Amino acid sequence: MRIPFVAGNWKMNASVKETEALIHKLIPLVKDAGKVDIAVCPPFLYVNQALALTKNTHIRVGAQNCWFESSGAFTGEVSPEMVKDAGCTYVIIGHSERRHILGETDEIINKKIRKALAAGLVPIFCIGELLDEREQGKTEQVIERQVTRGLEGLAEADMSHLVIAYEPVWAIGTGRNATPEQAQAVHRYIREWLKNRFGSAVSDAVRIQYGGSVKPDNAKGLLTQTDIDGALVGGASLNADHFAAIVKAAVS
Ligand code: 13P
Repeated sequence: MRIPFVAGNWKMNASVKETEALIHKLIPLVKDAGKVDIAVCPPFLYVNQALALTKNTHIRVGAQNCWFESSGAFTGEVSPEMVKDAGCTYVIIGHSERRHILGETDEIINKKIRKALAAGLVPIFCIGELLDEREQGKTEQVIERQVTRGLEGLAEADMSHLVIAYEPVWAIGTGRNATPEQAQAVHRYIREWLKNRFGSAVSDAVRIQYGGSVKPDNAKGLLTQTDIDGALVGGASLNADHFAAIVKAAVS
């Protein structure tokens, strides 16, 4: 049984006031949500505040990125060790906005995943195809390339500390979510790939979140699919009521 996992990727949104208001409101709403893992991923500057606000709750905190070195002359970067030291549980790696706006390659993402695992973090490894890749029938090819390169060098044991998020790029921030059937088909494909690469135990245990315009009204349809184990929520995670509704939809 895979415990569902719902994480909120706040992206570059928040302020001290908003972080406080959002988390304050969220805590009671998800307090009795049941068997589900919950995380919020604010921008780096608000991670400490989020950690303090969620102390003694079952909401965990993740970062949205990290670099692949421990320390040194990397101006503007934050190491996985620092993310861990601050108290984070998770780190989002390879988000499509980092791939496509900031030029992250599969190779950089692989280095970050390895380093994050070594630092004791749980990477939320994001993959997903562009609209024209889907339209050209290349979805599986793209996913295969991203998982093959992104997870290169990882051992079976590493896989119990990693979450995959399938986020079709055309569904991110567009209000156009993948249909439950479209998402399920890709999740199934990823699980088959995991089985071939790491064996059935890993394939059965790894949680695969769906991300891309998840909202309270479409969450149930997506989250009840066999191979969808939760959601990575962008826009709707900035609204405590909406995020809590998605968390509840994941517990079923
Ligand atoms: P939206 O939910 O805003 O589409 O964003 C999804 C996402 O990119 C989460 O990482």
